[in-house]
Amino acid sequence: MASWLLFLGSLLQFFTGSKAAVFTLQNRCKETIWPGALSGAGHDLLINGGLQLKPNEKTSVAAPLGWAGRFWARSGCTFDQSGRQGNCATGDCGGLLQCSGTGGTPPASLAEFSLDGLEDFYDVSLVDGFNMPISIIPSGGRGNCSAVKCSSNLNLQCPEQLQVRANGGGDTVACKSACLAFGQPQFCCTGVYNNPQVCKPSHYSEIFKKACPTAYSYPYDDATSVFTCNGANYTIIFC
Ligand SMILES: *[C@@H]1O[C@H](CO)[C@@H](O)[C@H](O)[C@H]1NC(C)=O
Ligand SMILES: *[C@@H]1O[C@H](CO)[C@@H](O)[C@H](O)[C@H]1NC(C)=O
Repeated sequence: MASWLLFLGSLLQFFTGSKAAVFTLQNRCKETIWPGALSGAGHDLLINGGLQLKPNEKTSVAAPLGWAGRFWARSGCTFDQSGRQGNCATGDCGGLLQCSGTGGTPPASLAEFSLDGLEDFYDVSLVDGFNMPISIIPSGGRGNCSAVKCSSNLNLQCPEQLQVRANGGGDTVACKSACLAFGQPQFCCTGVYNNPQVCKPSHYSEIFKKACPTAYSYPYDDATSVFTCNGANYTIIFC
């Protein structure tokens, strides 16, 4: 009887979609970071769009069934006395602590999700570049549920033409993708290159792929970069 009720309960939860997944954002960087969230059209804004995480801090948020969107983190931010307005060296979203419908300015490493009742899709994308290591660790799901780890610091191996430097000449704080740096169709897979048969990895995307083999290194990198899991929670680890 009890197990029947439990079964009915989870069925009801499944169909009413009260909660699909819990996301935990964790800062393993040595510095403070400011994660941001951008929801797909019509989906709930999570974590109010953005927040601050000091080293070793984490925060969790429940996403409704069917949620789709992305997380990234900003670095090198300074905010005014209100704590809500300022700017960030990487991943900035219009200078707001709580990104309200604005994504991070590339380059920024992304964790992307599309939660479905039957199957969740997730990936790490460096298509617009990299600003810090990012990993997705599923827990408690059924199916393949591979962890996606992009834990190398690409800023240290970034080709000169792709580097974003702090204050002009300082450390490399982010690494542009070739598409972002050069805007050419063969890197962006646009125009006549808008076809997986034609748009191939480049010298630049291969540097990204080598550092993070299970992340998107260019737009048609699907074969080795999309993962699925069913009914999991997800931890997103920065650094
Ligand atoms: C997800 O996390 C919530 C809250 O901690 C927990 O109740 C639930 O059982 C977890 N789900 C899975 C699939 O581990
Ligand atoms: C899970 O996915 C990984 C990466 O795509 C793949 O190498 C592995 O064979 C898959 N495992 C199963 C059981 O499908």
